[in-house]
Amino acid sequence: MKIFADTADIQQIKKFLDMGAIDGVTTNPTLLAKQAVDPAEQVEKIVKLVPGPVSVEVISTDYEGIVGEGKRIAELGDNAVVKAPMTQNGLRAVKALSHEGIKTNVTLVFSPSQSLLAAKAGATYVSPFIGRLDDIGQDGMSVVRQSLEIFRNNSLGTQLLVASIRHPLHVIESAKLGAHAATVPPDVIDKMFNHPLTETGLKRFLDDWELLGKKLGSSIAPYRN
Ligand code: G3P
Repeated sequence: MKIFADTADIQQIKKFLDMGAIDGVTTNPTLLAKQAVDPAEQVEKIVKLVPGPVSVEVISTDYEGIVGEGKRIAELGDNAVVKAPMTQNGLRAVKALSHEGIKTNVTLVFSPSQSLLAAKAGATYVSPFIGRLDDIGQDGMSVVRQSLEIFRNNSLGTQLLVASIRHPLHVIESAKLGAHAATVPPDVIDKMFNHPLTETGLKRFLDDWELLGKKLGSSIAPYRN
């Protein structure tokens, strides 16, 4: 499963790229608004920085507007993916854009029937928002499970990109179900690295090493410069 960073924060994106933790990035108007900088410049920087797919969301809601914005977004780079809302105008635009070979991501998906329609429109990615479903007492992961089953049983080439992730278990469950990608907020990626036994284990190794140095009467670091 590919992991995308769900952020428009360039420092965070750089950090995770350097660790090999992410394969791409997803942005949206809310994430760009948090950066409080010119969104077009920020998006351009992210598309240049990231070797993998970068989703950039349209603001228009009418068909012509979505197609027009989508074409300009696609010109940002081969890795730019046009994010369009799960509406009738959005899917009509996705169909037109995908016919021109432009990559698309249908966002704000909350049900398997929406996933099916978005895939039939030719979307490259479909993004179910599982955390927001969990927030209202529904089972977000069930939309992932059912959408994947629909895609597989109907030979639909669309990739399922799990979004609105709240914690590492969402990522692990998505990977176990065979989702193609998950877009994960930076704080959740950080949590995926952590385990208390890793921290205490490292501390113990270093403490024991220091103890040995004391026994030998000098600090030992044979492999350091
Ligand atoms: O890409 C945005 C999507 O992941 C939404 O997340 O946390 O706003 O529900 P959230």
